[in-house]
Amino acid sequence: MIKLKKKTPIIDQHDKFGFYGNKFGGNYCAETMRKPIEDLSKLFEKLRKDRKFLKKRDHYFKHYLGGETPFFKLENLTRYLGGAQIWCKDVSAINGDAHKAYHATVNALICKESGKRYIAGDTGAGMFGKNLAMAAKKMNLKCKIFMGTKDISRQAPNVKFMRDAGAEVVPVNSGSKTLVDAVSECMRHYVSNCDNTHLAVGSAIGCNIFLKICAWSTSQISRELKKQLILEFGEIPKLKLINVIGGGSSALGFWNEFIDYDKKHVELIGVEAKYAAPLSTNAKVAILHGAAQYCLTDKEGQIAETRSLSAGLDYPGSSPLHGLLKDSGRARYTNASDKDALAAFKLITKLEDIRPSLEPAHAWSECIRLAPKLKKSDVLVVNNCGKGYKDKKIYIEELGYYPK
Ligand SMILES: Cc1ncc(COP(=O)(O)O)c(C=O)c1O
Repeated sequence: MIKLKKKTPIIDQHDKFGFYGNKFGGNYCAETMRKPIEDLSKLFEKLRKDRKFLKKRDHYFKHYLGGETPFFKLENLTRYLGGAQIWCKDVSAINGDAHKAYHATVNALICKESGKRYIAGDTGAGMFGKNLAMAAKKMNLKCKIFMGTKDISRQAPNVKFMRDAGAEVVPVNSGSKTLVDAVSECMRHYVSNCDNTHLAVGSAIGCNIFLKICAWSTSQISRELKKQLILEFGEIPKLKLINVIGGGSSALGFWNEFIDYDKKHVELIGVEAKYAAPLSTNAKVAILHGAAQYCLTDKEGQIAETRSLSAGLDYPGSSPLHGLLKDSGRARYTNASDKDALAAFKLITKLEDIRPSLEPAHAWSECIRLAPKLKKSDVLVVNNCGKGYKDKKIYIEELGYYPK
């Protein structure tokens, strides 16, 4: 079993080649990407210690993204399920409607610091694309978003938003026409344009530096949550933190400050989509998008196709950092089907005033399954990491309505 290091941020627990636990991550990139990646790593290491840069980041988080996101108890759902107390960290309340806002903003700030004028990113659900388009507009950068054509059609509201914000949306027609192909195409674009373009990878995936920047940015969520828990309970109570997993960026942000706690005190539960579930099934380690990770493969070892109603979860790989958390036994992973997620959305929106997108609806489904089995003193917190408006059409097709 891999052992995690205490008091060392999880993003820094790699060796000099970028491997976590001698097994996950690394830098399997094109030769031409080596130098820009090295330059970016040096820049990031400098910026994360630079007080002026941190002040700028905090300024943007507060005055542009809207500051601390709410934390509240779902009284009706708790009463209905009759077990554990259910709490919501409503990250979807951020300006940008999803946790991707942190990561997009930090990437745009880094792009400015690097002196580059162009920024390129991938998107599946359109949440990262939308937030990158917003941040680019705010900081006067030219923005290109790579997106599979299947996702362009199923996440149309976010595509319109990106275009209205002035970003170029590049349709990707190869492979499954979803996120996996969008990431590949965006990386190809970067290989030929790295002199003037900053690459913003949309989740905690890719070569070492990209997943580090991503997880460092989203960790704002757990910094806030820790303070909010202490304010509410006077201490960190016995907790279960439930988060959906696509590439894994929201979960890493939600869990970051709690990784050093004993798992009996703070349990970390990741929920994948049933047919895109490398961490919760017996998937092998394979190399995808420049890094070794748990990944769905076919009999020949090729990357397998996935299937999910949720564009943000329709991805065969998983962050190398989740490989580390799984193999160290620190986090546990399960999955939920489209049907489970839809049923969760139905119940939550009937009882409470939140409208989760399809991605966090998977986490809500696990919460609904677990809560009745637990005691009233147990505390479940779900990261409600995205707003549902982008999935309105899908919810209407599947459920016949979208709540007011
Ligand atoms: C709202 C939302 N939640 C979750 C995810 C899954 O990605 P990750 O696991 O990187 O948070 C996405 C991806 O687009 C998303 O838009």
